[in-house]
Amino acid sequence: MRRLRSRPRTPRALLAALAGALCLYGLGTAAPAQGAAADTPAPATAAASLNQLAQAHGKFVGSAAATSHFSDTQYTGILGSEFGQVTAENEMKWDTVEPSRGQFNYGPGDRIVDFAQQNGQSVRGHTLVWHSQLPGWVSGLPSGEVRTAMENHVTQVAGRYAGDIAAWDVVNEPFNEDGTFRTSPFYNAMGRDFVAHALRAAKAADPNAKLCINDYNIEGVNAKSTAMYNLVRDLKAQGVPIDCVGIQGHLAIQYGFPSDLRQNMQRFADLGVDVAITELDVRMQLPVSAQKEATQSQYYANVIDACLAVTRCTGVTVWGFPDKYSWVPGVFDGEGSATLWNDSYQPKQAYNAVAEALGGDPGPGPGPGPGDGCDASYAVPQEWNGGFTAAVTVSCDGDSLSGWSVSWGYAAGQRLTNAWNATCQQSGTRVTCTNAPHNGNVPDGGAVTFGFNGTWTGTNPTPATLTLG
Ligand code: XIL
Repeated sequence: MRRLRSRPRTPRALLAALAGALCLYGLGTAAPAQGAAADTPAPATAAASLNQLAQAHGKFVGSAAATSHFSDTQYTGILGSEFGQVTAENEMKWDTVEPSRGQFNYGPGDRIVDFAQQNGQSVRGHTLVWHSQLPGWVSGLPSGEVRTAMENHVTQVAGRYAGDIAAWDVVNEPFNEDGTFRTSPFYNAMGRDFVAHALRAAKAADPNAKLCINDYNIEGVNAKSTAMYNLVRDLKAQGVPIDCVGIQGHLAIQYGFPSDLRQNMQRFADLGVDVAITELDVRMQLPVSAQKEATQSQYYANVIDACLAVTRCTGVTVWGFPDKYSWVPGVFDGEGSATLWNDSYQPKQAYNAVAEALGGDPGPGPGPGPGDGCDASYAVPQEWNGGFTAAVTVSCDGDSLSGWSVSWGYAAGQRLTNAWNATCQQSGTRVTCTNAPHNGNVPDGGAVTFGFNGTWTGTNPTPATLTLG
């Protein structure tokens, strides 16, 4: 049933084009088919999505995505609406993709790609060459066979997903803390040249993906990040294809914030590569306290600030959510609460800090005005047989709002099924939507957009009048 060797291109391209069109409406993250059952109230989320806020700066906010949670509709709802890029948390790692030599398993990775494409998101490929989550057969190879096996793996996997991946972590975690190369089957067999060999194979297999090296504890200027800097500099000097450095960003409040993050990112950028924060989380020793949460929020905001300050920082990816699905409690004893959402999917203080750092939720506004200079408009950026996605934009010019509601009547029996960035109710033909907790303020000259999916039969006319209250 599933695609075998090559993936069908035309429908993908069509979907991507559609998604691009949706992005123009700020609805690139609309999720027409993500299992949101009719009549299920949409959880209130913040103002514009985090990714929409980032887009205003030409950047993205992404998340790790795990297919193991795809049956959780609260999870998929947030994953599909808040983020512009997803990274497979485990589904594209060697032990999943090529568990035995020459036997490729693309099912889990495909589910990540399909989810992203259905939600207008790009995909970060993670990861091709890494010492961890590596099947035993690779470690057991005679040294003389490792290069062939590595190049074949890179060629097959990057080739299989060519066109679907915005950026690949071609090599993950090559360094020790002191800046020496980490022992691995790849380093043992090829020395440092394994990095260049992997990058060249990836370039040949997918000429359009950005090719990155990714590592942790390289947020600040230190021995390890300097080793990465020197490697990237040398690779560029040798003409090896290298486009980007991934800085994982697994932070912990008890270790302090790497205050030279911005400076460090800038020095990579100055080498002529992009940078991104690829796996951000900020853990703490449990139990949680208000003070720890405040510190955590500041860390998250600091990371956003640093990325905004460096032109070649393309975006920030958080390493999963909510807290109960984070890898942190299972790996760091006694630590947790590392993500932006709590176990019941309430956005945490750190979420608000990220939104604010991205320019959202401007805080106390100029006070409620009569709203004479504000109005609402209705658009249907996507319609399909029986369903549609709509966007309503509340904009102000010459006035402002702090708190709003928009209502309209449907003339042809349309039913709203699920909304985001507003709380909506339908009673008979009448729909009323009020602002989410974080997007009530519409400043003079500003606008907010909320979206929803609905059903229709026969015709789907635009409501004649929108009432803004
Ligand atoms: C982690 C996943 O989150 C876990 O589910 C898995 O058990 C182990 O790997 N650096 C990386 C990621 O590059 O791939 C790791 O992800 C976290 C550290």
